[in-house]
Amino acid sequence: MKKSCRRAIIAGNWKMNKTPKEAEELIRGILPLVKDADCEVICCVPYVDLPVALQLTNGSNVKVGSENCHWEKSGAYTGEISADMLASMEVPYVIIGHSERRTYFGETDVTVNKRIRAALDAGLSVIVCVGESLEQREQGITSELVSMQTKIALNGVSEEEMKRMIIAYEPLWAIGTGKTATSEQANEVCSVIRNTLKSLYGEKVSEGTTIQYGGSMKAKNAAELLAQPDVDGGLIGGASLKPDDFAAIVDAASKG
Ligand code: 13P
Repeated sequence: MKKSCRRAIIAGNWKMNKTPKEAEELIRGILPLVKDADCEVICCVPYVDLPVALQLTNGSNVKVGSENCHWEKSGAYTGEISADMLASMEVPYVIIGHSERRTYFGETDVTVNKRIRAALDAGLSVIVCVGESLEQREQGITSELVSMQTKIALNGVSEEEMKRMIIAYEPLWAIGTGKTATSEQANEVCSVIRNTLKSLYGEKVSEGTTIQYGGSMKAKNAAELLAQPDVDGGLIGGASLKPDDFAAIVDAASKG
């Protein structure tokens, strides 16, 4: 299967930004600019912004996602949100295992896997993030590490469920730093991930799964990154908060 057969997906990750009022303004800014996109467009927003984002994007080509969910269905987990809660609001996507969750909130490969399991059971589609730190890259263990993160994340995920999985390669050293991976570096690791998928599920799944790059992707560098054979989309932080910048990346993906 060729790259052109895979779904190109540009997803914004708003992180801990935007009140509901500000979210309304941002979504209203984005919608007209991406309405003719020839790729999938997702905005992953803070929990409190979900109602307004869902309402404003209803009937449009923009989908909404959450930035995390818990693995239990309900219970004594103060401050957490379950996958069933998201599903009940008809939120279609959720990001799991972002490096900020791993770094600041004790997320491990095992809890990432548990959250993915819960999200898939609730009917959601998942963007799972993997990636190495600068220290790990300098140690020369990027491929092994990212491959291992991918394998543990997907433990117990069936071939059928892989249709609802997107993998985002996000090198930690490129997130929010303005330091983007070169297109060769991004492609090299995305291809490691694809080979890992091949070893787990075979060629049909590995060739059919969307693999995104994330880390200082912006209007200027998007086209080159997205032109790489194994980079099928982007997970965008900072630039997803500016309608023009986000739309320019969507545009680059639509042409790719
Ligand atoms: P930046 O685009 O701000 O580097 O963030 C990338 C990211 O973490 C997306 O999940």
